[in-house]
Amino acid sequence: MSTSVEKKAELSPEVVRFLNTSVHRSYVGGRWVEAADGETFDVVDPGSGKKIATVTSLKKADVDKAVDAAADAFKNSGWATMPIPERCAILHRIADAVEKQIHNFAQIESLDCGKIYAQAVADIQNFVDTFRYFADLAQAFNYRSVIAVKHHEAWVARHPWGPCGFIIPWNFPFLLAGWGLAPALAAGNTCVLKPAEDTPLSALYLCHVLQEQELLPSGVLNVVTGFGETAGAALSSNPKFRRMSFTGSPEVGRLVAESCGRNLVPVKCELGGKGAAVIFEDVDIAATAEKLVQAITFHSGQVCCDATRWLVHRDIYSDFVDECITRMKSVQIGYPMDPGSQMGPLVNAKQVSRVLGYLKKGVAEGADLILEGGAATVPGKSGFYVKPALLAGSLNNVAAREEIFGPVAFIAPFSSEDEGLQLANDTEYGLGNSVWSQDLARCARVAENFRSGNGWINAHNVIVHGVPYGGIGKSGMGGGVVSPDTLNDYLRPISVVRPL
Ligand code: NAI
Ligand code: MG
Repeated sequence: MSTSVEKKAELSPEVVRFLNTSVHRSYVGGRWVEAADGETFDVVDPGSGKKIATVTSLKKADVDKAVDAAADAFKNSGWATMPIPERCAILHRIADAVEKQIHNFAQIESLDCGKIYAQAVADIQNFVDTFRYFADLAQAFNYRSVIAVKHHEAWVARHPWGPCGFIIPWNFPFLLAGWGLAPALAAGNTCVLKPAEDTPLSALYLCHVLQEQELLPSGVLNVVTGFGETAGAALSSNPKFRRMSFTGSPEVGRLVAESCGRNLVPVKCELGGKGAAVIFEDVDIAATAEKLVQAITFHSGQVCCDATRWLVHRDIYSDFVDECITRMKSVQIGYPMDPGSQMGPLVNAKQVSRVLGYLKKGVAEGADLILEGGAATVPGKSGFYVKPALLAGSLNNVAAREEIFGPVAFIAPFSSEDEGLQLANDTEYGLGNSVWSQDLARCARVAENFRSGNGWINAHNVIVHGVPYGGIGKSGMGGGVVSPDTLNDYLRPISVVRPL
């Protein structure tokens, strides 16, 4: 699917037209609006460091209007009360519309967040698949289930909640918009989405497509742009929401959860990670090293469920390290839209300082920097590029404990299954870990005993529609995504009981 555009890096006329919009406004109640104070901010292509768009910067009063629009659409647009198959058909029409323009969306996404073009195509496809998954699921879902209890007639009925809020980060802007919006819309809720200030463009382009094709009643989906501390905080403190969903850093997740807690608005937090890969002595060393290097360089390591702690059986440790270093050195760093680039930039200069800062702090605490990393240059581009790096040594190190969010792994040996598992679980995070071995019984044992939301076998970052994906501890709370449980999260249950 991606090959034709992979070969040509130039932008489509449609994308050029979209990017030439003088000020990208927010989409509220079916209309394009600017901040009342007229403020805007610049959006930058991380691959070139150049400005690509100017976007309106909404404040609390502007954001409150968007929540009012969603509340009004919930009551009055007919979306919440529409026959379920009709609503599901609309979700498929949205998926159709996005799929038809997959290359336009992918170009916007690649430019906006510095994502390798082919990976941007995969993210857009994932959005489409998510909409189709929840459309099909919602169509067959049981909205009224009888409960067998003695001496009573009882059942649970499920309704949509009302307006739902979504605050999402910059690493997978469109994919995560899909994971949030699709179940909420399928269940009949209305939505206000705030994309990250670094990457607002694909969500805004979606609104253009929806508006052009009149796919949703006005106010059912609202997209508000602005900064976290202003627009984001306005969303999380708005008492009119019936549900809130946040994806991003644990630090901000806490703020959002506190703010929602004050209004008793239920909140789902999908936060960071410090995933481990536990690699046993019977693996194919070259093939496993290849997969881990692919994982840590995928989207330049800006992936919450990445494998960032590589725990390797002592018998193969030094061979494994050599294989990893050779591969990490040969990763082709380049402009995301250029064919041949394997790893693009980080999202902004702040993330570059963060990643380089962790290398320094790790070494200061005694880690060995066995592959140096550091800033990278791409000819003709002044983007935010860094090289992959590998640290080794005691895991009691800041770079082994904290989420770095860059192409940096920490490698350490272990001697027994118990020790491998114990090291993997010795973290405040709990998102996704993997185990690697030819012995599938051992893999199953280890995977089941990870203290995390997800355990993967002979692969990392395996996310499949239908399988609950979520984190525990510092990695999240309030339910996961992409499974039947998620649709249920967006339905308000009422138990109805009659004594017999
Ligand atoms: P962040 O957590 O600040 O940003 C995520 C979203 O939260 C953005 O939409 C932002 O506008 C919003 N936000 C920020 N402050 C807010 C507030 N006070 N109230 C409500 N919303 C607010 O993440 P940031 O600063 O961009 O990245 C810093 C680190 O966070 C990364 O290095 C990484 O470790 C972690 N992170 C993790 C992600 C994940 O998927 N687990 C995604 C993005 C960042
Ligand atoms: Mg950007």
